[in-house]
Amino acid sequence: MTQPSSPTDAGARRDPRLKHLWRPYTQMQTEALPLTAVETCGAQIKLADGRWLIDGISSWWTACHGYNHEAIVGAMHKQLDDMPHVMLGGLTHEPALQLATRLAQILPGAGTPDALQHIFFSDSGSVAVEVALKMAVQYWHNKGSATRTRFVAFQHAYHGDTTGAMSVCDPEEGMHALFKGAIPEQIIVELPETVDQLAAFEQLLMGGQREIAGVIIEPLVQGAGGMKFHSPETLAAIADCCKRHDILFIADEIATGFGRTGTMFACEQAEIVPDIMCIGKALTGGAIGMAATAANEKIFSAFLSDDATTAFMHGPTYMANPLAAAAANASLGLFEDGERLEQVERIEDALREQLEPCRNIPGIADVRVKGAIGVVQMAEPRDINWLRQRFAELNVWIRPFGDVVYLMPPFIIGADELTALTGAVVKVMNEWSKRTG
Ligand SMILES: Cc1ncc(COP(=O)(O)O)c(C=O)c1O
Repeated sequence: MTQPSSPTDAGARRDPRLKHLWRPYTQMQTEALPLTAVETCGAQIKLADGRWLIDGISSWWTACHGYNHEAIVGAMHKQLDDMPHVMLGGLTHEPALQLATRLAQILPGAGTPDALQHIFFSDSGSVAVEVALKMAVQYWHNKGSATRTRFVAFQHAYHGDTTGAMSVCDPEEGMHALFKGAIPEQIIVELPETVDQLAAFEQLLMGGQREIAGVIIEPLVQGAGGMKFHSPETLAAIADCCKRHDILFIADEIATGFGRTGTMFACEQAEIVPDIMCIGKALTGGAIGMAATAANEKIFSAFLSDDATTAFMHGPTYMANPLAAAAANASLGLFEDGERLEQVERIEDALREQLEPCRNIPGIADVRVKGAIGVVQMAEPRDINWLRQRFAELNVWIRPFGDVVYLMPPFIIGADELTALTGAVVKVMNEWSKRTG
């Protein structure tokens, strides 16, 4: 692995085709040009200029087994030869049948009457959230409560970028003001952690039984809305409140699922089983887009009748794509020997110890760790672009946003690679502190 010292990616700067590529969350007029990735391997990304960057964020939290894992790549190659895609309307196929069954066996509540046994596939996390919201609304419609169409969600929440998903994001993150009139208006409240907040939350649910379809939450970790953590007790209390007031409880485990918080799913730590759960991101081990919305028997059975109009009216074209399902099946296989959760434990210990020095840096408000997630929170969000560039100069791929610098590395990351990531965070945050002084 050659590692020239120059941080610039001259190839990208010269490439006139870049103007055609509209990039995510990017002010195309002012933001720095992107680096060009040409290859991935293990926990690293190779750039066109020959440098290898250690990936601290697993390509937006997907590559839990690292990149190009041979089990996943092999399964995809085989599936590609047999059948890359076939529609799911009127047809089924082995990869989807296998994956739905395996998920039903590992999702929270498996083996109990509350199990999430019915799996609806889609191609991205945002769509899985749209599906969950539609499922909840149509559930109530089918039950004769057509007025129950609104959702309760929380400040700092992030559930995706499509309109329904945006409506249950934090108002600022979801740009509710900008999209007023274009997205549904939901009920956004503080995530209830104190006794008083919980009492207010209970009042809200009690009074909302005519209009509220469900509550949606990212269990234990609110990710893109600021990497905020809450306790399993808080999560359990919210779930319990929903149950007592007959309001559907929707868990969005798109970011937390598949080991990231220390258990296979975050809900396990609170010993709760949601009515509906969304998964995505690491479902395929980061190889290809796929997501799913899982429902329990109570939800599923409300769609069964002799009347065609009570059927669930949704069907993405690439739903349960066989290539993605093959990748997901291979990824689940890699979790089966249990080593991944041990790796998460080791990462958690290392992050706790190695990020601790950040706590004493002036300008740092908090350092927190949960599973394979390490967060350094700045008192004020300053110089984000400088931070991003500085990390890349040090050959690590770390993308701070808002007021947080965070690490969510692949679980297979080597101890030395992890030390390089945490070392870069400590070094750069010290530089940042002096710079912004
Ligand atoms: C909790 C959560 N839900 C939904 C999404 C949206 O997923 P996607 O980007 O695949 O649409 C994300 C993405 O970051 C997420 O973190």
